[in-house]
Amino acid sequence: MTATITVDLGDRAYDILVGPGLIANAGEHLSKVLRRPKVVVVTDENVAAHHLGPLQSALEAKDISVKSFILPAGEKTKSFPQLQSLCSDLLQAGVERNDMLVALGGGVIGDLTGFAASILRRGVDFIQIPTTLLAQVDSSVGGKTGINTPEGKNLIGAFHQPQLVLADTGALKTLSTREFIAGYAEVVKYGLINDLPFFNWLEANVDKIKSGDEAARIHAITKSCQAKADIVAQDEKEGGVRALLNLGHTFGHALEAATSYTSERLVHGEGVSIGMTLAMYFSQHLGLCSGQDAQRAERHMKAAGLPTRMEEIPGELPDTDALINLMAQDKKVVDGQLTFILTKAIGESFITREIATSDLHAFLSGIRKDA
Ligand code: GLY
Repeated sequence: MTATITVDLGDRAYDILVGPGLIANAGEHLSKVLRRPKVVVVTDENVAAHHLGPLQSALEAKDISVKSFILPAGEKTKSFPQLQSLCSDLLQAGVERNDMLVALGGGVIGDLTGFAASILRRGVDFIQIPTTLLAQVDSSVGGKTGINTPEGKNLIGAFHQPQLVLADTGALKTLSTREFIAGYAEVVKYGLINDLPFFNWLEANVDKIKSGDEAARIHAITKSCQAKADIVAQDEKEGGVRALLNLGHTFGHALEAATSYTSERLVHGEGVSIGMTLAMYFSQHLGLCSGQDAQRAERHMKAAGLPTRMEEIPGELPDTDALINLMAQDKKVVDGQLTFILTKAIGESFITREIATSDLHAFLSGIRKDA
């Protein structure tokens, strides 16, 4: 039942394995990519409680020695102080160039560990074992690593590809419903970007995916990883087409910054869901996309249980000017001009830099009624 997808990056190509039982068989899978039988696992408190013991046993059963570091859970861990203390811990643990780090957890652990791996001794190898849906379909694949700063999300980071990704679908059983559903936003993203048949399939299968149907989950994750692998193989460093993967993220990242990355108010996937809905309605506002498609996309995200509107975020949000300023911190700003991923229809997204701030302001203040 294991699916294999290859991210085709020449001599840095690597496999993504998707299926149940991968943590239990991690010793066998890791043996193929280790240069010596030793790994350092980085994880968080929540994930460690469920998966660190089984991973450790699986590795030790294949004579791979394991040292682990357990960090606090939550987006705030993706920070300079945590990076500094992790790097010190890794150096004090004697991690060398030939060693392997293992990121066991969600996007926060994967991004932080990957970034530490990219700078430690000018670069050590790492493996991703993503345990959230969001990390399995997006953040563990493609080599984006980094941390957040008060100025914005992921503004400090590096491209550093993993050697292997093990997406154990069994791990999804330990997620809260909210966390699982938030990750589903990144699955919907692939349909909205360039795959209407996949979006149709998701509409028909969302209930199965939510209720834990293994085959439906494996199909959704495999399709998502394949879509991402294809894009990353074409444009590893986001010179062009990879920016499509940021559908909804310019709005979403601004909302995450506006809520100070507090998971009680908003988690990344929820920001992406609201952001993708805004991108669809903004496309409609600009006369690019039909209202029917925008409404259909929103209906699906609502059916999945995702928030789609800014007013669903608890607490006050900054005014429209302040939100636009947060968007201007986006990494994709070129000559002060924001990059937007807009859409002509479901499955027909495109990249544009030709959006006037006045149009964005009119759209946002119109829907927020604060013009
Ligand atoms: N999450 C978007 C990307 O990896 O490019």
